[in-house]
Amino acid sequence: MSSPIPSSKAGARAQLSNGGVDLLLEVIDGAPVIRYWGASFKGEASELLFDRSIANSDFDAVTNPGMMREHSRGHLGYPTIKGHRAGLDWSTKFSVKEFKSDKSSFQIQLEDKDAKLILDISASLDQFGVLKVSQEITNLGDTYFLDELNYWMPLSDSATQSLDFVGRWSNERNPQRRDIAIGRYVRDSHEGRPGHNSTIGMIALEKETNFASGQSWALSLAWSGDSQYCIEKNYEGSASISAGEVLLPGEVILEKGQSYRAPDLFALYSSAGLDGLSSNMHKHLRARSVHPKTPRPMTLNLWEAIYFDHNEEKIRKIVDKAAEAGFERVVLDDGWFGSRRSDLSGLGDWQVSKEVWPSGLGSLANYIRDKGMEFGLWFEGEMVNPDSDLYRLHPDWILKVGNRVGPTWRHELVLNLDNQDAYNYVLNSVDKILTQYQITYIKWDHNRVLIDAGSNNRAAVRKQTQGLYRLFAELKKRHKNLEIESCASGGARIDLGIIDLVDRFWTSDNNDALERARIQRWSAQFIPPELLGTHIGADPGHQTGRSISISFRALTALFGHAGVERDITQLSSSELAELKSWITLYKAKRKLLHSGDVIRIDYPKDSHYLHGVIASDKKSALFSFSCLETSPESHPPRMRIRGLDSDRRYSVKVLSGGQKSNFMAIEPPIWITTGLELTGSELENIGLSAPILRPASALLIEITAL
Ligand code: DGJ
Repeated sequence: MSSPIPSSKAGARAQLSNGGVDLLLEVIDGAPVIRYWGASFKGEASELLFDRSIANSDFDAVTNPGMMREHSRGHLGYPTIKGHRAGLDWSTKFSVKEFKSDKSSFQIQLEDKDAKLILDISASLDQFGVLKVSQEITNLGDTYFLDELNYWMPLSDSATQSLDFVGRWSNERNPQRRDIAIGRYVRDSHEGRPGHNSTIGMIALEKETNFASGQSWALSLAWSGDSQYCIEKNYEGSASISAGEVLLPGEVILEKGQSYRAPDLFALYSSAGLDGLSSNMHKHLRARSVHPKTPRPMTLNLWEAIYFDHNEEKIRKIVDKAAEAGFERVVLDDGWFGSRRSDLSGLGDWQVSKEVWPSGLGSLANYIRDKGMEFGLWFEGEMVNPDSDLYRLHPDWILKVGNRVGPTWRHELVLNLDNQDAYNYVLNSVDKILTQYQITYIKWDHNRVLIDAGSNNRAAVRKQTQGLYRLFAELKKRHKNLEIESCASGGARIDLGIIDLVDRFWTSDNNDALERARIQRWSAQFIPPELLGTHIGADPGHQTGRSISISFRALTALFGHAGVERDITQLSSSELAELKSWITLYKAKRKLLHSGDVIRIDYPKDSHYLHGVIASDKKSALFSFSCLETSPESHPPRMRIRGLDSDRRYSVKVLSGGQKSNFMAIEPPIWITTGLELTGSELENIGLSAPILRPASALLIEITAL
């Protein structure tokens, strides 16, 4: 029988409200409980709203473990905190000691007097509905072994599905969506870096949620080491979502007075579909003081153009063409240093190779700059080849346990950034090169996973991650205009921890536009397009071997921080002219592309992608309609584009892709050649008649307010 026993003694209460999101927090029997996290509501949210039945075979009163999820409070699922003091103080019961809140933030201090632990939790909800939470635990007693400190947020029972991303090298960010069932669903990373398989964040959503509508809730941990995300639904039927750093055994041992600050958490909610969720995150990131403010330069990365074949004469020819085509940045990739003529040796020897660059990098850097472009350089500072002078001199500088040297990966071992000498060596070597050649852009790679990652035999993934953050911060301090690209064998280090220290992510080594379209689409779920490196690759592509036209490659690359990754001296003059026109277009449109709202249309067929960017004043937009594969029906569904002003009239014009060779049809719809004028409402409800495109071809559609 249910009984109306009040579920709590009234305590402090905070109602955060910002950016269309409300969060109701209440202190119940000493524990902070998030009663509600979702769309803004009107009203007082009376206590009785939350009263529940007492079921058979259950505690005699409603339990409310809330954010703390402690056994001592009757919580039977996965906990917030795991730790002990040599077997003691394993079960905690924290109580709120201090509680402060206003309309958009709260700060709580909890204490467990018996366990001699303090926990500080604070959160702020910004005008975009993004909640940023921090947690720090302090030990007031004898040595305390912390195993885990997780963030937990309650999920509405409308959230019946989860969405996360999986992948591997050259095939990152494949979405997987499934029903939330009773039990724990965990996505974790143990690579010492997020990894190609990293999900970036975990999303819970309604069954009906699509890009355009429906509710979703998401967590993303600001961390570049090991992490875990989890959705847990208990037998009572309630579900929660969590994120936390994965700590290796003994990685955090707190002596009296010491603290562990967990990586910050981003908690997102939107009632406007997955696009609403990404729009909130993009706006939050764009509002940061460190967000790149200058136009994102058209980049030529030389990796796939030359690989390890560093030959100044050859590179100068590429640079000549780059200047002709309108590039703004040229990046010299792997192979310029030490004995690095292949990936077998030289990594760690950060001195310019006399063999391939007899008079240093200066003449190339100046050559590039004289042509009005920026010179960028590749590093992989955390790694070392066993066949290198550095390793021969300092074999003890690697992460290891005992005398064990773990298996190499791409012929590399990992330097221990917790070793001050190793750290200083990397910092000073990179600093020296940056100073010597006045370098303002570096691509920083991280090609392998961390295993047996010990420093003085103690687990050190956390310290390694913090070491890298320190290193980047110091390099940026010493070189005021330095930009850093976070690359890890493609997109294996894309996360909200490193984001404040970097200016670009290398999205994937896969430059096949057909596959990249998906990788970009889902990477943009959390990361705004101006931070995602998107390159036009060679033909045939070096990863999939597929032949794809420059225009389809370019149109795909346009929707990010665009660049090229091929030997452009091999292009015919008409191909170079075509590339040049794409570069001109990118420059003309990047302001819109890098500041507007990303819109992914729920196109009825998986064979096509319809997506674009709408300016914040809704006066202009650019959309791409691309055919990924042929479909059994002749006519693809209409292109219904949402997000513009319904009452405003717009002109619609095909900017690219309208040529006959792109169509599998006798005649495409007339509007493709004539353009047309219509209202935002017509565009959304009636939509444009879609042409029958050949696979791997696309239309670029410009929409301008009249
Ligand atoms: C992996 C990166 O993803 C590539 O772009 C390139 O920089 C190579 N490493 C160089 O070794």
